[in-house]
Amino acid sequence: MELVEVYKQIILEIKNNLKYYQNDDINFIFNENDNSKFKFLSSDKETQDKNTFKSNDNNLSKESKMDKINAQVMRCKKCSLYKIRNNTVLGEGSLNSEIMFIGEGPGENEDLTGRPFVGKAGELLVKIIENVLKLKREDVYMANIVKCRPPGNRNPNDLEVSACINYLHEQIKIINPKIIVPLGSVALSRLLPRYNGITKNRGREMKLILSREDIYDVIPTYHPSYLLRGSQSEINKKKREVWEDIKKIMKKLNMLI
Ligand code: URA
Ligand code: SF4
Repeated sequence: MELVEVYKQIILEIKNNLKYYQNDDINFIFNENDNSKFKFLSSDKETQDKNTFKSNDNNLSKESKMDKINAQVMRCKKCSLYKIRNNTVLGEGSLNSEIMFIGEGPGENEDLTGRPFVGKAGELLVKIIENVLKLKREDVYMANIVKCRPPGNRNPNDLEVSACINYLHEQIKIINPKIIVPLGSVALSRLLPRYNGITKNRGREMKLILSREDIYDVIPTYHPSYLLRGSQSEINKKKREVWEDIKKIMKKLNMLI
């Protein structure tokens, strides 16, 4: 990609993200020492200092970096979801995975176990991973947009997403996957706010730009729980579409189909 194109995409990404980050709670949201890249939005000098990236973090192993994020998440109170959680759900899988699946947030089973994708939707995702990608659950990495369960499995709201998404961005940078697969419209639009709706965007190749050095390929597909809904012919159609998406993903990973 030409440099000017990269800059254009970065500016577009920032503009798209600003609607989530420009609110009065900005100091509250980013007042922890979490290396927030949005520190420039904070007017509070002390917060800015606290959020300054610690360069010696670069020397830590992937495991140590992820452990640090997990420790932050486990004591996180940046949005009100912390009040009703049983467990935080950071993510799970290989830190060297070339592929990262992103859901919207923990459901009941995930909240009870502290693990992502362990309920019904998870079972189907694992089937896709095993039968279509020919990989094991532990070979890939799975995470969510928010790390605490929204009540009644509702979609996470703007405030919750803006408080939590930086953890996911940091996870992505640690794993450095070749391809990111948002599952469903919530995961997609929260990761890349300019894309709305999964039906018209599934299978499209996109870029996630977190910084000049951190640019990732993204191909979204349906959320597994959406796959299970509808008449048999609708389900079959959606399964065929997921198969098409997975083939594209495998091509990107140079995997034999
Ligand atoms: N659905 C999601 O989006 N994430 C999970 O972890 C489980 C179900
Ligand atoms: Fe913190 Fe995210 Fe949990 Fe909110 S959902 S309390 S931001 S870890």
